[in-house]
Amino acid sequence: MKILVTGGLGFIGSHTVIELLKNHHEVIIADNLVNSKIEVLDKLAAITGVRPDFYQIDVTDEAKLEPIFQNHPIDGVIHFAGLKAVGESVSKPIEYYYNNLVSTMVLSKLCVKYGVQKFVFSSSATVYGDQPSPLKEEMELKKTTNPYGETKAMSERILTDTVKANDGFAVVLLRYFNPVGAHESGLIGEDPNGIPNNLMPFVTKVAKGQLKKLSVFGNDYDTVDGTGVRDYIHVVDLAKAHVKAIENLTKGTRVYNIGTGNGTSVLELVNAFMKVNGVDVPYEIVGRRPGDIATCFADAAKAETELGWKAELGIEDMVRDAWRFEQQNC
Ligand code: NAD
Ligand code: UFG
Repeated sequence: MKILVTGGLGFIGSHTVIELLKNHHEVIIADNLVNSKIEVLDKLAAITGVRPDFYQIDVTDEAKLEPIFQNHPIDGVIHFAGLKAVGESVSKPIEYYYNNLVSTMVLSKLCVKYGVQKFVFSSSATVYGDQPSPLKEEMELKKTTNPYGETKAMSERILTDTVKANDGFAVVLLRYFNPVGAHESGLIGEDPNGIPNNLMPFVTKVAKGQLKKLSVFGNDYDTVDGTGVRDYIHVVDLAKAHVKAIENLTKGTRVYNIGTGNGTSVLELVNAFMKVNGVDVPYEIVGRRPGDIATCFADAAKAETELGWKAELGIEDMVRDAWRFEQQNC
């Protein structure tokens, strides 16, 4: 298939491009580099031996996006392009709603106009809100605590309604849990600008000595050791789920959790990082971070039954690969 990958130079998009190319699909990348670097294109070429077509455009810009649909016989779209910093979305709500919603609307409009039938969307476990884990796809969605989360819930509705109105259009909503790790080559991985918000990139910077110590946000949750529990998923496993999703897409809207089904606490992750990599990660316990929930992990059975996808990599692989990437690149 010929697949347009928006946000294809970003963290999850770049790993997915590798898996698509490995599975003999053709890839066109559209990315405005707002949160990625052009060098990733060279690295993708080095890893795969193929240099995908690349357009440096903003996918909210319909006039710039439409020629790609006119000039290429696109079979499917995987839409990663989006702004994703939860805290920033609270201070810049319009930027987040505009970027994340307009991109989804413009892309789905062009898909319908040009008869592109397959669409895979990057959603998030955040759409479940605070509900007991394991989280199941059929659960009712709850109000999220920030504009970023709302853009995911609203994009899911926009796409679901577009499918209802257009027979030939089919969508998979993939609800990611906590993507971490990096490609085994150490060439691509997660390299956020500035001080990281998320746990794993913060841990790697502390291990490297670029940040002094990790603040563990609360040890008074009702969890195994009082720290927050999440379902960390290796980015390469996550990337493979996209290949299964687009290859299995037939009609209607389908929703899948993409997680391992296992919960890991902050301290369990930090201890695994230190043990596997033989490095120290100094930390201190501080107060809870506003908006955080105690526990979030997936019921991952549906993706296994319907897509034949299951996470294969564990916490040890995640911490090893994240550290390798940090040492080689950042
Ligand atoms: P990322 O920031 O590394 O990648 C996003 C890419 O999209 C970047 O390369 C950025 O330059 C590009 N982009 C953003 N807005 C654009 C626009 N208007 N036009 C063109 N390009 C644009 O993020 P990621 O971690 O790879 O996340 C990919 C998707 O998955 C996002 O939609 C994100 O919300 C979603 N998601 C991520 C996580 C996570 O924890 N990483 C969890 C759940 C869902
Ligand atoms: N944490 C710390 N210290 C830090 C950073 C995080 O203790 O410096 C803790 C958090 O309190 C939480 C856990 O580590 O218990 C994971 O936090 P992250 O920020 O890495 O991830 P979140 O679960 O808060 O959110 C992530 C993405 C969201 C996405 C959600 C579900 O950032 O965009 O997973 O997919 F919606």
